[in-house]
Amino acid sequence: MVSIVVGGQWGDEGKGKIVSYLCLKDRYDVTVRAGVGPNAGHTVEHKGKKYGLRLVPSGFLTKNTRLLIGAGVLVNPEVLLKEINELGIEDRIGVDKRCGVIESQHIQRDKGSEHLKEKIGSTGTGCGPANMERANRSLKLAKDVPSLKKYLSDVPLELNKAIESKKNILIECSQGYGLSLFYGTYPYVTSKDTNAAQACVDVGIGPRRVEDVIVVFKSFPSRVGEGPFRTEINVEEAEKLGIIEYGTVTGRRRRTGKFDFKMAREAAMINSASQIALTCVDYIDKMGRGARAFNELPERAQRFVEEVERRLKVPVTLISTGPDLDDTIDLREDKL
Ligand code: GTP
Ligand code: IMP
Ligand code: MG
Repeated sequence: MVSIVVGGQWGDEGKGKIVSYLCLKDRYDVTVRAGVGPNAGHTVEHKGKKYGLRLVPSGFLTKNTRLLIGAGVLVNPEVLLKEINELGIEDRIGVDKRCGVIESQHIQRDKGSEHLKEKIGSTGTGCGPANMERANRSLKLAKDVPSLKKYLSDVPLELNKAIESKKNILIECSQGYGLSLFYGTYPYVTSKDTNAAQACVDVGIGPRRVEDVIVVFKSFPSRVGEGPFRTEINVEEAEKLGIIEYGTVTGRRRRTGKFDFKMAREAAMINSASQIALTCVDYIDKMGRGARAFNELPERAQRFVEEVERRLKVPVTLISTGPDLDDTIDLREDKL
């Protein structure tokens, strides 16, 4: 069975937490990273430890889970090798031989470009310039980098074999619907599409293989970098609500806003959502922090969850009430 976890807003919805929760709970055999590249920063918190991941799939906490990076994902060898060493996952990670490689010149061009860095507010991680070079067909690939040699794999082959032998596979996207090069708030977007169908391409499986698409929404969406944000609230208001966040990769303050139902409906449609994971429900009412059952949630938070489900017409099966994996309300048995 194949499931995809994808972002429904401008990234940072908490996909890292949802992926690692699902992987631990459902014991996935394989987690595979889709999305743009190391511009992403996923946070995973468990048992008092906090991990910041940029390339390694967030399912790494589950022992024996095979960890893969699809060909569509840009790899910065330095970032990846550091993460592999720190997490001690040398023996179970595989990188597709066709992944594009980010070099220091891409980072310099990203940071040095007024258009990318100032106007768009890019992460400065070299992803935009590397994808430009990929489109120009001059980008170096992982198979040509000696330090990656022992991790190289044919990810589509591995995945399709795993599907044949009835294994469970979780595809982890990065960024989100609003940052899609085609469907997001162009030109204030990232350098590639970021939706579920693109994730299939990124990892090399066909759309008929996917059973579940879990779209992750944050109760108060956030956005880093420039671009329109219809429901944005000002810093004072965000401070009052206690929902100020800073980016994992760049340390920039994330802009925050109210839930945008119109945008969320579009995200659910384009991704063909079969389930919704709603994160940061503790932002709706602080008393809900750490709740592990629906009836432990304050009335206001319960009503919000019900409203999302009613207006999006997709079941909210996972509710996150804090950064730790254990702060999760799992309603899949009741609702599916
Ligand atoms: P990208 O791949 O970069 O888009 O990131 P992401 O979707 O994995 O999210 P990221 O980890 O960057 O940001 C989410 C932040 O919210 C992290 O700091 C998480 O620890 C935190 N978080 C996740 N779920 C919850 C929640 O339910 N409540 C609260 N308070 N924090 C949460
Ligand atoms: P780039 O992907 O670095 O070129 O940045 C383009 C836009 O996407 C900027 O607004 C970034 O802040 C945003 N972006 C890229 N990756 C992420 C992410 O993982 N989380 C949130 N925003 C992102
Ligand atoms: Mg992030």
